[in-house]
Amino acid sequence: MTQDLYAVMGNPISHSKSPLIHSLFATQTGEPVEYTAIQCPMDGFQGAVNTFFERGGKGLNVTVPFKEQAWKLVDVLSPGAEAAGAVNTLFRDSDGRLCGENTDGLGLVRDLTVNQRIDLKGARILVLGAGGAVRGIMAPLLRERPAEVVIANRTVAKAEALADLFAGDVPVTGCGFTDPKDAFDLIINGTSASLQGDLPPLDRRVVGPKTITYDMMYGPDLTPFNQWARDHGAPRVIDGLGMLVEQAAEAFACWRGVRPETSPVMAALRDRVG
Ligand code: ATR
Repeated sequence: MTQDLYAVMGNPISHSKSPLIHSLFATQTGEPVEYTAIQCPMDGFQGAVNTFFERGGKGLNVTVPFKEQAWKLVDVLSPGAEAAGAVNTLFRDSDGRLCGENTDGLGLVRDLTVNQRIDLKGARILVLGAGGAVRGIMAPLLRERPAEVVIANRTVAKAEALADLFAGDVPVTGCGFTDPKDAFDLIINGTSASLQGDLPPLDRRVVGPKTITYDMMYGPDLTPFNQWARDHGAPRVIDGLGMLVEQAAEAFACWRGVRPETSPVMAALRDRVG
């Protein structure tokens, strides 16, 4: 059987787990999917996308640093991608138009609510960071009807701008890292601070006896943020491996119309990540 070709594009890309995840999905579902990783030159994303589809490619995932460029490039944005300001899933529709979706926020919410069984309705949520990753999760998070979302960021003006963009029925406010001083039900770390070995300088009182923390990063050991939370008494700390697999499953479903089972894939990845 001929395989339909998919890929993830980014720079760098060698660390990407997407080829492994999608090949496990393909085996599990029996879909004829071949999925590779393509490193694009920093100034060559658009050309690489065009070439990929001209050669018959069926769909792309887009990762750092091209998600915002992908958002600008597409002919048709899904409502979710529109709010996210970024696109991580591309495909062409039957008229040949380039379509963009963003599955990151859906993946996070699905990991929180389905895999981790956390009820977000009525929850007080603190989100750390105000970059592209956080913008991408805001709309799906707010759809779960939390009581309140506070966005804290190193650059306060960016947190305030994002809060203004998303505030509606659910109150959303922006502030600096040291401003929140009482306990939240859930704290989501969407900063890239740990890539530099840094920790957001939070007041320790944001972690109470019931606070769950979620780091959008993952790794073989506890992330620095989750280690900090555990040291301050958080009973449950979760990393972003589930979000990674769930956003991939959403993309696979968008392309193939079949949603794979994610739990065996998460278990396989956890074995490899450590
Ligand atoms: P991404 O796509 O990962 O969100 P980004 O748009 O560059 O990347 O955003 C990175 C986020 O991590 C921002 O919120 C950034 O804070 P600033 O808006 O103040 O730049 C945050 N961040 C990066 N390095 C950080 C550090 N060392 N300490 C705290 N926050 C950091």
